[in-house]
Amino acid sequence: MNTVRSIQDDILKLKKEKDICILAHAYQSQDILEVADFTGDSYGLSLQAAKAAQKTVLLCGVRFMAETVKILSPQKKVLLSHPQAGCPMAQQISASQLCGLKEQYPGYTVAAYINTTAELKTVCDVCVTSSSAVKIIRSLDSQNILFVPDCNLGAWVAGQVPEKNIQLVSGGCPAHAGISPQQARQMKKLHPDAKLLVHPECLPEVSAQADYVGSTTGIIDYAVNSPDTSFIIGTENSIVEHLQFACPEKQFYALSENCICSNMKLTTLMEVWHCVNGTGGEEITLPDSVLTQARRCIDTMLTLG
Ligand code: 13P
Ligand code: SF4
Repeated sequence: MNTVRSIQDDILKLKKEKDICILAHAYQSQDILEVADFTGDSYGLSLQAAKAAQKTVLLCGVRFMAETVKILSPQKKVLLSHPQAGCPMAQQISASQLCGLKEQYPGYTVAAYINTTAELKTVCDVCVTSSSAVKIIRSLDSQNILFVPDCNLGAWVAGQVPEKNIQLVSGGCPAHAGISPQQARQMKKLHPDAKLLVHPECLPEVSAQADYVGSTTGIIDYAVNSPDTSFIIGTENSIVEHLQFACPEKQFYALSENCICSNMKLTTLMEVWHCVNGTGGEEITLPDSVLTQARRCIDTMLTLG
């Protein structure tokens, strides 16, 4: 009978035989992270995508991440682990809607969260991720920035970079923005010694109560390296599980039991097996014009970040 371990062994064997690099976002489950060549936040995945030596890259995560890999490595075969795994935030603003907004804000530099479609990236100036946004926005020459589509991340960046005029639009992550400020107050009351660590996609009223606000990897690094022993985690709940594995002697509590990204969870270990076996996933293809034009803002992100 197959077990998690035998399927993992099979994946490790197949990916070596077929020269496949597996990149897994930190919101994937523990059994998937264990077979990946690299795990991390979206910025880390972009860096690895640019460096991977293998001919094929399997991205375990959501569509915009696989598109980013394809844009950075157009000569490679890039697979998305599950064809239906999209990010709802990436659907909140289209390239034509952004062009309309640009007419309302002439002269503004357009910064787009990486959680956007490849097509939208063809009409923006720079991409940012949660871990690179503050550094990148601060280093832009322009004083006026139009930031799309996550107004919560944008508001957090604006607080860190007060010298810039940052115009926000309405949009955000349903999983993170669903966490209420009351939940944060209640959990802090229930665990008074715990540090509250949250992702900047949370509402500003939630981030304002946090001891640390940062990307997925930022939250993991903070908890692992902190002398504190208990933490309330305000991001996708896989991170609670990964931290429990990484630091069994520390306590981790989910800020909200509902902070689950159903799209990230579409990928299972068996989906990964099917992808490396050649019987699953979706090969990402993008028109040449999109590959070329979308690359500019991703390259600017990698240069400034
Ligand atoms: P990170 O940049 O922290 O990986 O976040 C990506 C994401 O989709 C968070 O919801
Ligand atoms: Fe998109 Fe939110 Fe899922 Fe991240 S957690 S991939 S922003 S829906």
